[in-house]
Amino acid sequence: MNTRDVASIRRRLLAWFRKNARPLPWRATRDPYRIWISEVMLQQTQVAAVIPYFKRFLKHFPTLPKLAQADEQMVLRLWEGLGYYRRARDLCRAARLLRNNKYRTIPDDPEVVRTLPGFGRYTTNAVLSQAYDRRLPIVEANSRRVLCRLFGIERLPRDAELWQLAESLLPQRSVGDFNQAMMELGALVCTATNPHCESCPIAVHCRGRRMGRQDHIPVRAPSAEVCLVDEVAVIVQRDDRLLIVQRPDAGRWARMWEFPHHVRAPGESVLDSVQRLLTSLGLEGTVGDEIATIRHRVTRFQITMVCVQVHHPRGSAQAGTYANLTWVRPQDLHAYPLSTPQRRLARRLHADD
Ligand code: ADE
Repeated sequence: MNTRDVASIRRRLLAWFRKNARPLPWRATRDPYRIWISEVMLQQTQVAAVIPYFKRFLKHFPTLPKLAQADEQMVLRLWEGLGYYRRARDLCRAARLLRNNKYRTIPDDPEVVRTLPGFGRYTTNAVLSQAYDRRLPIVEANSRRVLCRLFGIERLPRDAELWQLAESLLPQRSVGDFNQAMMELGALVCTATNPHCESCPIAVHCRGRRMGRQDHIPVRAPSAEVCLVDEVAVIVQRDDRLLIVQRPDAGRWARMWEFPHHVRAPGESVLDSVQRLLTSLGLEGTVGDEIATIRHRVTRFQITMVCVQVHHPRGSAQAGTYANLTWVRPQDLHAYPLSTPQRRLARRLHADD
């Protein structure tokens, strides 16, 4: 692209964005804190899914100092269903670090912001460009597709190359709007299938379109194979309370709660697997009916979790590989952050009552 093309792309894209941007709740503000929360939620998650979570989160934690004081369990509970829970734990850590260093919001300083938990290149640049108009580029799924088509890249691009192209397009001012415009164009016009080139403000500059290759760009990396995982979970009831356990500090769903469950060993029957799980919890009991089978897809894992009831538990429960355990009344389960498959199981229990 020559300088004239670049100037025209900037102008056209900004004008298009001002007319066509969706009125999303985080767009009515330059508050760095709100922009931060929105950008973290939008990672790996669709705009429509984020909106209710964003509003609810801001109601509970309207400012950075409020989030810095928050109980992580409460934050995880509000995050429940969005997935990728590390994002929520990192939000808490970053808020506390900033508070401990006397900041009352995200500062206008890339050197500081970059060091915070959860702030990779994308998040740092997205927040600072939108909040402070810092001249920093972004690359994420939507803008990546726009860049690949605009520059007619007919092979798997290197990340460094995309960041460089994104930077080459940045205007001097309105950088936050420009970055959002690239993402918005990808979301609304330059869509993954059937791109709407006829209504694209920068179609005249698009090499992919000129080559007639827009439907073949971007080139997709081969996707990872789906991995099938069989699990068992146990509902152990004592009087009017159910056993739940807290996951350890590391790994998926860290510090969230669940009905005890584990992966079945190859060739292991459901019954044997349940007995092994009970033993690890220091319990014995009578294995009852299967009460639900929960199927759940997370990243490349297709999980099938067979859930059984255990009657007359004996022994004193121990956490085993878990961090903690507690016995809860079913009506109090709502207060504990659970993973999506575990919440489905909890709801199933209620429905059966
Ligand atoms: N995806 C991530 N951040 C976004 C934003 N600010 N606008 C539209 N899509 C986005």
